[in-house]
Amino acid sequence: MELKIELTKNPKKKPDTDILGFGKYFSDHMFIMDYSEDKGWHDARIVPYDTISYEPAIMVFHYGQAIFEGLKAYKAKGEVVLFRPDENFKRLNNSCEALCIPKIDVQFAIDSLKKLVDIDRDWVPDSPGTSLYIRPFIIATEPHVGVHPSSNYQFIIITGPVGAYYKEGINPVKIYVEQKYVRAVKGGLGEAKASANYAASLKAQQEAAEKGYTQVLWLDGVERKYIEEVGTMNVFFVLGNEIVTPALNGSILPGITRKSCLELLRSWGLNVSERKISIQEIYEAHEKGQLKEAFGTGTAAVISPIGELCWNDKCITLSDGQIGEISQSLYDNLTGIQYTDVADPFGWVVKV
Ligand code: COI
Repeated sequence: MELKIELTKNPKKKPDTDILGFGKYFSDHMFIMDYSEDKGWHDARIVPYDTISYEPAIMVFHYGQAIFEGLKAYKAKGEVVLFRPDENFKRLNNSCEALCIPKIDVQFAIDSLKKLVDIDRDWVPDSPGTSLYIRPFIIATEPHVGVHPSSNYQFIIITGPVGAYYKEGINPVKIYVEQKYVRAVKGGLGEAKASANYAASLKAQQEAAEKGYTQVLWLDGVERKYIEEVGTMNVFFVLGNEIVTPALNGSILPGITRKSCLELLRSWGLNVSERKISIQEIYEAHEKGQLKEAFGTGTAAVISPIGELCWNDKCITLSDGQIGEISQSLYDNLTGIQYTDVADPFGWVVKV
């Protein structure tokens, strides 16, 4: 498919890197591609970043048929690189499947993304810890009131320079173990990156923030016993010499940072398991002095050490509120590969 390109005539002023925060600034260009039943995915184009107008009747506004991805481009010794973009577009297609959205061509999406990032390469910041966040998403655009899969979609990619997702940066975050609300159940949308999952998390997140916590830790939606994931991250615990993360069970997001951490940890010969793990087990391990550390993993969050957990009003401090050894090694090695400061034996980094 041809990719049309229209460059902006009014490049924006780039923000200083020290005020970036996360998700506030957007680069000069965006990618758009349309889908209709008769033409399939068509009319791929890179155009200046701008407002888009839609009829109020388009289906995403009413029935929430929307999915997204998140990945980053890094300024690496003067070059610009992407981290595992194939994984993101494969996962986007899994989300398509879950929400009855027609799949995209993964290779075409990677090639288009490379072109988009290449055009906006000056937007990739180069201060430590900064990157260009990339947000691909698909929305239902058929103007129709009535519940059925839309017959029209738009696939859009926007990008923007970012710093740390949490104000804590790599410093430990406080996590509230959620008892009242649930994020997802097996058979639902939990393993898709559906916008609906994030809408479903807002109320719990707001209440946890009011209590002084950064994020919530979700338990399974049926028994409220087993650990699933943290707000915008997957979660790992170090119990004695075992590094454990909940097994993907149909309601947990299969994180690409999660997968990369598992691959890194296994390559170091460590004892890693993906299994069912109850919150009770974590607290018991803590009592026995076996809970060494815990951390979240995600594209936006990178590696985020957990400094405090609060479950049923029982609050525990982990790693003395400091960054644990495994969290620090993962952070150093993962970001080292992403910024090409350390070797990439896995071939994860893709040059733009
Ligand atoms: C990411 O980590 O990229 C995410 O999509 C999580 C969040 C910013 C919603």
